[in-house]
Amino acid sequence: MSENAKIILDGETHEFPIVVGTENEKAIDISKLRGATGYITLDYGFKNTGSTSSAITFLDGEKGILRYRGYPIEQLAEHAEFLEVAYLVIYGELPTKPQYEKFKTDIVRHTLVHEDMKHFLEAYPRGAHPMGIAASMVCSLSTFYPESQDTNREAEAVNLTIIRLLAKLPTIAAWSHKNSLRHPFVYPQNKYSYTENFMHMMFSMPTEESTPDPIVSKALNKLLILHADHEQNCSASTVRIVGSSHANLYASVAAGVTALWGPLHGGANQAVIEMLEAIKADGGDVDKWIDKAKDKDDTFRLMGFGHRVYKNFDPRATIIKKAADDVLDALGIDDPVLDIAKKLEKVALEDEYFVKRGLYPNVDFYSGIIYRAIGIPTEMFTVMFALGRLPGWIGQWKEMRENNEPIGRPRQVYTGSNKRDYVSIEKR
Ligand code: SDX
Repeated sequence: MSENAKIILDGETHEFPIVVGTENEKAIDISKLRGATGYITLDYGFKNTGSTSSAITFLDGEKGILRYRGYPIEQLAEHAEFLEVAYLVIYGELPTKPQYEKFKTDIVRHTLVHEDMKHFLEAYPRGAHPMGIAASMVCSLSTFYPESQDTNREAEAVNLTIIRLLAKLPTIAAWSHKNSLRHPFVYPQNKYSYTENFMHMMFSMPTEESTPDPIVSKALNKLLILHADHEQNCSASTVRIVGSSHANLYASVAAGVTALWGPLHGGANQAVIEMLEAIKADGGDVDKWIDKAKDKDDTFRLMGFGHRVYKNFDPRATIIKKAADDVLDALGIDDPVLDIAKKLEKVALEDEYFVKRGLYPNVDFYSGIIYRAIGIPTEMFTVMFALGRLPGWIGQWKEMRENNEPIGRPRQVYTGSNKRDYVSIEKR
């Protein structure tokens, strides 16, 4: 393999170093390109451009491989607890038993949200989308902990912010749901596990105890793990670039929440269920909707299908599809939209349009089926994605800051007007 890449520009040959990762991924380091040649590269959507090097997540889109810090997602989803995986993604190693017990104890000590923040919730209009609430509430946490705004402080201060975010986001999420129902807020209970506590705050009332359902807790634990990180996706890249200005972790994560909200990204899980419901209401004719998805003149896209990186299959979708069957069987639920989803998948995967473009179900295609089965309202689906992705956002921010990466500031190619002189309004 060549040591350097050679680029010939205006008759001059320039050499740039080749970078090879631990999984043999190769890149051309063009850090000195503009200084050496006056040229920049142009790559809309960064489809061919790496923004960083990272030791957190490895994925291979062709082989459908996904590992967090080297551990295959299939093993973590089957055997680990979400907070164990959060620890792994953020700190780089699976915790020892003492480390894990301390991590969980620290988190349960910070699950309460400042009472003044309840006034924010009460000010939102009825039906306020919980992603809008989550983004603003997460950013507002930085105002209740102003010491977090000095991100050059010692690691201990940053670590307290990490614990507070992991502890408080489930409370914020559950309370945004309660607020939409104008129901009283339910406070966290330290006796519950992370997933049990969330379900307690979401679905019980202050006047009653919860009886955790192990099927639901196990399904939620698996879904959170499967969403924990996904290397330089849109929202993680957003968290990194916001954090690269040395904005605090709360503000950076809030930016990640807003990026995730888009229907092309995390918002797809809500859009999938809305699409399946529309197909069901339309009589369930999947062929008609597949044709709409293929029609360039139709804005309809098959939500939950396709991926920037996975061109074969999304390993998370494979796990979630089986979990959906298991959860619905265990709960005795027959959800007609699951049948429509499976029919859509079957027809699409036999259709040249989808096969040629490498369009397969992604993580969002089946996840909503499980959320629905465990009682999560559709508008909360993307908040569930954010709950899972929080450790990834934190891990990516922490790695970027610890590596002292420079502020992100891409270049551009200007295509506007050339120099022209001002003309007074009378003469225009
Ligand atoms: C997530 O990056 C991550 O890792 C994200 C994520 C994570 O964990 O963080 O995995 C989570 O965001 C998953 C993706 C959720 N989004 C959706 O399900 C929305 C539907 N999917 C598409 O919008 C699309 O597939 C994207 C956005 C996911 C990927 O888009 P790309 O890589 O920019 O690809 P593209 O839009 O250039 O599409 C390539 C071709 C085009 O056709 P041609 O121009 O070649 O003729 O495929 C077509 C597209 O029109 N196409 C689709 C399609 N997705 C792509 N056609 C119909 N239905 C679709 N869903």
